[in-house]
Amino acid sequence: MKKLEDLKYVVRLSEVSKIFGSDEHKTVALQNVSCEASAGELVLLLGPSGSGKTTLLTLIAGLLRPSSGTISLFGKNIESYSAKMLQQIRAMRIGFIFQTFLLIDSLTVQENVGVVLRFNGKTRREAHRHAFRLLEQFRIEHLAKKFPRTLSQGEKQRVAVARAIANEGDLIIADEPTGCLESKQGFEIIQLLKTYSKDQNRCVIVGSHDLRIEEFADRILRLEDGILRESA
Ligand SMILES: Nc1ncnc2c1ncn2[C@@H]1O[C@H](COP(=O)(O)OP(=O)(O)OP(=O)(O)O)[C@@H](O)[C@H]1O
Ligand SMILES: [Mg+2]
Repeated sequence: MKKLEDLKYVVRLSEVSKIFGSDEHKTVALQNVSCEASAGELVLLLGPSGSGKTTLLTLIAGLLRPSSGTISLFGKNIESYSAKMLQQIRAMRIGFIFQTFLLIDSLTVQENVGVVLRFNGKTRREAHRHAFRLLEQFRIEHLAKKFPRTLSQGEKQRVAVARAIANEGDLIIADEPTGCLESKQGFEIIQLLKTYSKDQNRCVIVGSHDLRIEEFADRILRLEDGILRESA
């Protein structure tokens, strides 16, 4: 598989559509969407609720299949990867921040961040240390020993972002990473993601309805009712 620096695009979508359901119950979530994202940039996918952001981000992560069109991920058509390969890619190269966080309730904050490092072969001790450094970076080290159910929504959000970048993946996909945060904290998170894309030359794709974070984007893709209106 190609290295990030040899790829023109980390992700490329051509004429991608996604239709849920059938007949009278069908929802066209995305219609003929073409776009791309490269290393070193933060691409902002902006659109109101229901415009198709989560659908698009889930497709890019290979967790959902398009109804038509093609998606290229790390230089290859996503369909050409085996299920096992795709799973490996997700574990090693992609960090995903889900809109619903998906933190593991039985693990502490520090363990939630450390667990992805364990998947990738770090020892328990290394994972523990690295996770704590990340929590410090996000200024939530005081939450290290707490369990997710005891956290506020904004705190959970920061833990989810710390976990997503823990592996230093080539592609970070963030679905509403600032949704639960006040503007100051939200800016801080988006700035951390931006710095990550620049310093590590990685690709970050952020889905959001929050117009206030526009200024942090290298490129903006605007979604409306499943259609990409413009890219700038
Ligand atoms: N699994 C599904 N089955 C049926 N319809 C779905 C499914 N997932 C999404 N949809 C529909 O597709 C459209 C796009 O949904 P999506 O979740 O991608 O929007 P969104 O932009 O992420 O919205 P929000 O900002 O509220 O998270 C919506 O009309 C939604 O109801
Ligand atoms: Mg969504």
